[in-house]
Amino acid sequence: MTASIPFSALSDSGYEAARGHVFNHRNLYKPAAFIFVSSVDQVQNAVKCAVQLKVGIAPRSGGHSYEDYSLGGRDGVMVVDLGGLNETTLNKATGLATVGAGVRLGPMKLALWKQGKRTIPSGTCLTVGVGGHSLGGGWGTTSRKFGLMSDSIVEAQVVTARGNVVTASAKSNPDLFFALKGAGANSFGIVTRFTFKTFDVSEKVISFSYDYNETQQVNVLKAFQKWGFNAPDDVSASLSEFSTGGNGMSGIYLGSKSKFADVMKPFLSSLPAPTKREELEADYISTVLQNGGYKATDPSSVLGLVNVTYPFVTFKSKSIFVKKNGMSDAGVRAYIEALRRGSGYSILDLYGPTSAINKVPSNVTAFVHRDALYSIQMFTSWEESSDASSSISWIENLWRTARRFSSPSAYQNYIDVQMPLSAYYGSNLSKLKTVKKKWDPSNVFRFQQSIPLS
Ligand SMILES: Cc1cc2nc3c(=O)[nH]c(=O)nc-3n(C[C@H](O)[C@H](O)[C@H](O)COP(=O)(O)OP(=O)(O)OC[C@H]3O[C@@H](n4cnc5c(N)ncnc54)[C@H](O)[C@@H]3O)c2cc1C
Ligand SMILES: *[C@@H]1O[C@H](CO)[C@@H](O)[C@H](O)[C@H]1NC(C)=O
Ligand SMILES: *[C@@H]1O[C@H](CO)[C@@H](O)[C@H](O)[C@H]1NC(C)=O
Ligand SMILES: *[C@@H]1O[C@H](CO)[C@@H](O)[C@H](O)[C@H]1NC(C)=O
Ligand SMILES: *[C@@H]1O[C@H](CO)[C@@H](O)[C@H](O)[C@H]1NC(C)=O
Ligand SMILES: *[C@@H]1O[C@H](CO)[C@@H](O)[C@H](O)[C@H]1NC(C)=O
Repeated sequence: MTASIPFSALSDSGYEAARGHVFNHRNLYKPAAFIFVSSVDQVQNAVKCAVQLKVGIAPRSGGHSYEDYSLGGRDGVMVVDLGGLNETTLNKATGLATVGAGVRLGPMKLALWKQGKRTIPSGTCLTVGVGGHSLGGGWGTTSRKFGLMSDSIVEAQVVTARGNVVTASAKSNPDLFFALKGAGANSFGIVTRFTFKTFDVSEKVISFSYDYNETQQVNVLKAFQKWGFNAPDDVSASLSEFSTGGNGMSGIYLGSKSKFADVMKPFLSSLPAPTKREELEADYISTVLQNGGYKATDPSSVLGLVNVTYPFVTFKSKSIFVKKNGMSDAGVRAYIEALRRGSGYSILDLYGPTSAINKVPSNVTAFVHRDALYSIQMFTSWEESSDASSSISWIENLWRTARRFSSPSAYQNYIDVQMPLSAYYGSNLSKLKTVKKKWDPSNVFRFQQSIPLS
């Protein structure tokens, strides 16, 4: 191992801090060592070293894997922490941005805003890493207009199982490029740098949220489905449904205030008045602040995330895609009933037939979910020391209820060890295995739910 690469091994004082630097503390595996890289050749050396020592390897970008796969998904692996690959550079002439694989969404959005009032569609959580997020999809408030984060990748620099550096793009190694855009998490190589398309967000946007009385949970979900099916692509929407009864829809509209009323009318007019209603015209970057938990008026520099700390949470999440025009009325009622029986919440993110996401054919990238009306994320958390069994049985029952009224598909970025790979990759799985055999024939890059050789 190159002595000049900083690392923490089991016996070092920095080890526990490095290990705890993941969002979910449910599976705190014990890696053999953490390697903190800041250049491509250091990643090459790390891969060669892991292969030589016959230890597993796991790249970590933002550390938000729901199953802690960035700690390897088992004990004893070498974690390659990509945090030092932190460049975000916008080329104003081409509109393309180069982004290091260790950059987090907050700093990325801040840098693109400062360099040219542009953005890359991606999630709202500021500490999520570009690496894991873009390789498994990446849904955010501009995705209905501009697509998923994975759809914005135009090129990736990849360190392969042999320790070589290759480029994946439509022209160069297109099979690898196909696989990375949706199935790229630690199966084919370590992406060190991305080139993304970017989009103009210099115009003001409307950010909105409507909360409803708990007696309206069923009606609000029905209204979300009906309105979402036809809503124009320049509006995004997420519906939150809590087991305590709280519920509301929020999102942003990439257009003028005068047109906004018409966009929302079919939704608002089908329901009683919200208990709380907010519609705010603002710069795009202030909606990033708000969705990230800051006030719209906070200085945008907080998005730079100096000294990132994670909340200490132990959670389980499951997901499902709802297709066609949504769940039946009976399904909606059953879903809300099951939700109310425990402690947790769901977030429904709108995709829909009018969205840029669904306009991409399902066979051109490894992200095959191009026919969903929305995704559901189910979430429950508990104190690390307490008994999780009632939370777990609640979320499993909630998922089974949704399954009866929707599809077998699930979102790979909400990774769940209980799901079969067919839920994530559909019939493209066989093609992905072929790509795997070519690029990683010895299965160097692997975890419980990586793409297998056969
Ligand atoms: C609080 C929170 C909010 C979220 N919000 C959203 C949201 O709004 N929209 C959405 O779509 N998703 C969201 N997610 C899910 C998120 O997209 C996934 O958890 C994603 O995998 C996280 O990426 P990461 O780099 O932070 O995680 P990591 O744990 O670092 O990585 C995830 C997986 O990708 C692999 N990997 C990471 N970097 C690379 C690389 N460079 N090359 C190859 N493999 C790599 C890792 O080994 C691991 O298997 C959220 C998650 C959390 C915890
Ligand atoms: C990137 O990381 C280096 C080394 O840790 C640091 O000096 C630099 O300030 C970082 N840059 C950004 C944009 O965070
Ligand atoms: C919700 O609606 C019910 C029935 O109309 C009413 O009794 C209750 O006060 C409302 N709750 C809130 C928080 O407004
Ligand atoms: C970050 O942490 C370092 C070390 O604890 C501290 O010196 C520095 O002031 C912190 N920076 C910010 C912006 O909080
Ligand atoms: C995707 O499917 C379409 C329609 O079936 C077909 O014309 C096209 O060639 C396919 N593309 C790829 C990359 O397989
Ligand atoms: C990829 O999966 C989608 C969804 O399951 C399917 O429609 C498509 O035909 C698949 N493409 C290939 C090449 O298997």
